[in-house]
Amino acid sequence: MRLDFASLSPLDAYRWLASTVTPRPIAWVSSRSAAGIDNLAPFSFFQVISDEPPTLMVNVGNRDDGSLKDTLLNVRETGELVIQLVAAAQVEAMNASAALLPYEVSEFERCGIATRAAERVAALRVEGAAVAFECRLAEIQPYPRHAPNCHLIFAEVLLAHVDDAVLDAKGRIDPRKLDLVGRLGGKAYTFTRDTFELERPA
Ligand SMILES: Cc1cc2nc3c(=O)[nH]c(=O)nc-3n(C[C@H](O)[C@H](O)[C@H](O)COP(=O)(O)O)c2cc1C
Repeated sequence: MRLDFASLSPLDAYRWLASTVTPRPIAWVSSRSAAGIDNLAPFSFFQVISDEPPTLMVNVGNRDDGSLKDTLLNVRETGELVIQLVAAAQVEAMNASAALLPYEVSEFERCGIATRAAERVAALRVEGAAVAFECRLAEIQPYPRHAPNCHLIFAEVLLAHVDDAVLDAKGRIDPRKLDLVGRLGGKAYTFTRDTFELERPA
């Protein structure tokens, strides 16, 4: 099978990309508007893109009607966000938080998701997240420049909270304990608990 992307609709291009570039980690992004309304939403077009400075990137697409998502509006307004990784036990809550809600409604309240205060930013943390990164906005890049249909949020990590329960005896992450959720295509997901090790060649 060959796929010429020039002849694919945007929806088909999305489906092929999203079901082949897998598994994708999910950024569970909390933010707070300048007016104090908290927001939470998942994004799987997400990666670590630099360790110096420590930087994560989240792709927030425009809605189908061209409007901007609450996460983007908040981060643009306040320059702050928290990025959680999604633990296996949180997968239902993560999915619920993807619902399209009015700007004035907090997903934390609507979905009954417990919170903790962050230290360096006003946005709330998700209670029980194995890993949470408190971040400051580095830059927002509309993409593509000539006709943007998404915005890339570059977020510099200020502080990480790591659940002690996912650490090994040396205080490092034990991948078998971390047990995060990865996004596959469509409705499919995977867990990171199926691990193995490889030695790098000399
Ligand atoms: C697992 C998962 C991954 C998602 N990944 C993305 C993504 O990478 N980019 C995006 O724009 N929306 C993504 N969405 C959809 C957003 O979560 C959804 O549009 C949400 O309502 C946005 O919330 P907000 O308006 O509060 O920011 C994803 C949804 C789910 C369930």
